[in-house]
Amino acid sequence: MARKFFVGGNWKCNGTTEEVKKIVTTLNEAEVPSHDVVEVVVSPPFVFLTLVKSLLRSDFHVASQNCWVSKGGAFTGEVSAEMLVNLGIPWVIIGHSERRALLNESNEFVGDKVAYALSQGLKVIACIGETLEQRESGSTMAVVAAQTKAIADKVTNWDNVVLAYEPVWAIGTGKVATPAQAQEVHCELRKWLNQNVGADIAASVRIIYGGSVNGANCKELAGQPDVDGFLVGGASLKPEFVDIIKSAT
Ligand code: G3H
Repeated sequence: MARKFFVGGNWKCNGTTEEVKKIVTTLNEAEVPSHDVVEVVVSPPFVFLTLVKSLLRSDFHVASQNCWVSKGGAFTGEVSAEMLVNLGIPWVIIGHSERRALLNESNEFVGDKVAYALSQGLKVIACIGETLEQRESGSTMAVVAAQTKAIADKVTNWDNVVLAYEPVWAIGTGKVATPAQAQEVHCELRKWLNQNVGADIAASVRIIYGGSVNGANCKELAGQPDVDGFLVGGASLKPEFVDIIKSAT
């Protein structure tokens, strides 16, 4: 089965109402390949989700940057999967390395979150990736396999999961993985899925790359056989995000 190219824009903790409207206007006016060719999802901060959803063109979709691990209730400051569904938000990013590192989200907690979000009908962009220290010590695959296993342990249906490989050392640093480095990990991840989850899932799950993707480096990365798209941070706040979407073709 052909894997449709996927481009996600993670706006992280950025933006004012005016800035958000400006980004949406740029996206709405952009000429990009059709939805049959590329799936585009942007992820504003919680407070702007409904605004963006209401203004954004209908062929692009919206993702939350996180959600709570179980049913909502007495969890001050959290946003539940049920609330996202209620607002018509179809996607959620889970397990971003910034949350893993700054908020101590463990592999197991991320796996639980992915499973709960899926159970409520959300589609999930599940993030994994190694630190520079882990890469330099030769444990990249062990780390990303353990992160993926914690998700695989809790998930049986992968139809609504996109796996985002984001090496921590490449995030926000301007130090993008080379196309060969990205392809190597994506290929190994697909092999891991083949051996541990199933051949059909390994063939169909989209594995996207994130970490200093921009308008200049996206085309070569997109040309790698196991790179099925991108999760873009900084450049998703800029007009060059449109060029990244266009790298689908
Ligand atoms: O979720 C996106 C990643 O953290 C990549 O961020 O493109 O700013 O390096 P970046």
